[in-house]
Amino acid sequence: MKERINHLQKEIDLMTASNLDELEALRIKYLSKKGEISLLFNDFRNVPNEDKKEVGQLLNDLKNNAQNKINELKEHFDSLQNTTQENDLTRTAEPIKLGTRHPISLVREEIIDIFSRMGFTVADGPEIEDDWHVFSALNFAPEHPARDMQDTFFIERLPDVLLRTHTSSVQVRVMNEQKPPIRMIFPGRVYRNEAISYRAHCFFHQVEGLYIDKDISFADLKQALLYFAKELFGAETQIRLRPSYFPFTEPSAEMDISCFLCGGEGCPFCKHTGWVEILGCGMVDPNVLRSCGIDPEVYSGYAFGMGVERITNLKFQVKDLRMFSENDVKFLEQFESV
Ligand code: PHE
Repeated sequence: MKERINHLQKEIDLMTASNLDELEALRIKYLSKKGEISLLFNDFRNVPNEDKKEVGQLLNDLKNNAQNKINELKEHFDSLQNTTQENDLTRTAEPIKLGTRHPISLVREEIIDIFSRMGFTVADGPEIEDDWHVFSALNFAPEHPARDMQDTFFIERLPDVLLRTHTSSVQVRVMNEQKPPIRMIFPGRVYRNEAISYRAHCFFHQVEGLYIDKDISFADLKQALLYFAKELFGAETQIRLRPSYFPFTEPSAEMDISCFLCGGEGCPFCKHTGWVEILGCGMVDPNVLRSCGIDPEVYSGYAFGMGVERITNLKFQVKDLRMFSENDVKFLEQFESV
């Protein structure tokens, strides 16, 4: 018995395995129920009583050694597996997360891009304005409801300070400072005193445009807007102009585009009309030209204005415009970074 134990002890000291399968075979060979060490335990009852203490000790040591050796080898293989994973040079690189552009910025840039191809340049102006630039110069009658506190944010205790409700105020500034021809667009943030809901916010973004020169007609306006609509929504897009009213344009119109979801056939998105409204436009009212020092007998021009949120909603079908200002990463990261 002792000899057998010694022999196995030597085997175990020299034991090696080149992979986990071999190691498992060794474990079965020595330590499983029918393994060699377990069989020795079965034979233990035949050991004479006077030797039992010594042999029992040797047998226990043998079993512990075998178990330790197998654990050691197993750990070795486990660590080997981890390091080969870490050092695998053919593994694909960790993706570096790029930031994404805000959808409003994406659409604003696209609008600017389209108009710049038609020769429009970009101008900017202040968000904090006075009555003259936002209303009076634009032919708003003194009692016009847009001047009401309900629509416009006034600065308390400062009599003639307000937040612009449209970027037409920048048109006024440009017309005051420059001689025609003027061909410009005016992207910017505007403020209106609206209850916040899925379809209205107290601030939003506009791009307005202005073209003033000799002999500018409504046909020029229509052609520019048709080009714009086709560039932004696809070549098959059609436009429709409906008569409307703005104090600063005469005649005035609202422009619809053919619904790009159903192609004009009618669907829930366009409320079964085949058309969706995207902007307001018209020929600049002679009163506006006059108040900005431009002679309406010599010059004429057109203007248009659109809400960037509205266009973004249409393009990406975002139902709730509050999402644009909530900074929810799950929403924002869906948009392209270029
Ligand atoms: N200023 C208008 C608005 O904010 C838009 C507009 C601009 C309409 C120019 C006609 C011409 O609603």
